[in-house]
Amino acid sequence: MILLGLNIDHCATVRQARYREAPATVGGAIEPDPVTLALLGERAGADGITVHLREDRRHIQERDVWRLRESITTRLNLEMACTPEMTAFALKLKPATVCLVPENRQEVSTEGGLDVVGQRARVKAVIEAMTDAGIQTSLFIDPDEAQIDLAAKLRAPIVELHTGAYANAYFTPGRAREFNALRLGCVRAHELGLTVNAGHGINYVNIAEVRTLPHLHELNIGHSIISRALFTGIEEAVRELKARMNP
Ligand code: PXP
Repeated sequence: MILLGLNIDHCATVRQARYREAPATVGGAIEPDPVTLALLGERAGADGITVHLREDRRHIQERDVWRLRESITTRLNLEMACTPEMTAFALKLKPATVCLVPENRQEVSTEGGLDVVGQRARVKAVIEAMTDAGIQTSLFIDPDEAQIDLAAKLRAPIVELHTGAYANAYFTPGRAREFNALRLGCVRAHELGLTVNAGHGINYVNIAEVRTLPHLHELNIGHSIISRALFTGIEEAVRELKARMNP
């Protein structure tokens, strides 16, 4: 069984599009609420909830994260930049896992994977701080051997392989090459004892192939499920994707 981590960032994107300036006291008038979405998603079979608290707070807010921490019954996975501010926040929050991602203020959503090789000391310090606090660290990296090997060496328990390049190449001749890179990355990470997750750009179409990657533990999926939910509601959108993940 491949597990589903439901990324709810884009529910908050829609809320912020209208209510960015509204004070929290507007209360019940503010919609859509990502916490309610998370609870419905769990009810439909999501195995965990993922949010990215970005440094610019463009979608998920700190208050959302604390409310999720109090109310969800599965696991909270906090995606975050590898910074002292976010490390301090995560140590207070104590989610089940943190996923270290690169952050670039111009990007619409996360682009390339984290450069563990280029920021070895920073990444190592965060992994150690999290491990001491009982929080597992996942590194969101490209399916690149040097990055995977270093993730294992730094004792990150989990890697999330970036499926974005594959998803972008899906309808092009480059798809087979990108898929093969992911396949080799999964094998390598598994051989080194890492838990293998994957995410970014996974949808109701490419899931048929993504699910055949070896050793997959969990897929983190956001945009396609939130988009589908506009038409079917979140519960049906989650159930449908889970059915395609594990037919
Ligand atoms: N995994 C990571 C690390 C991400 O940053 C994101 C969002 O950009 C996702 C998975 C989910 O990607 P998507 O919204 O395309 O499903």
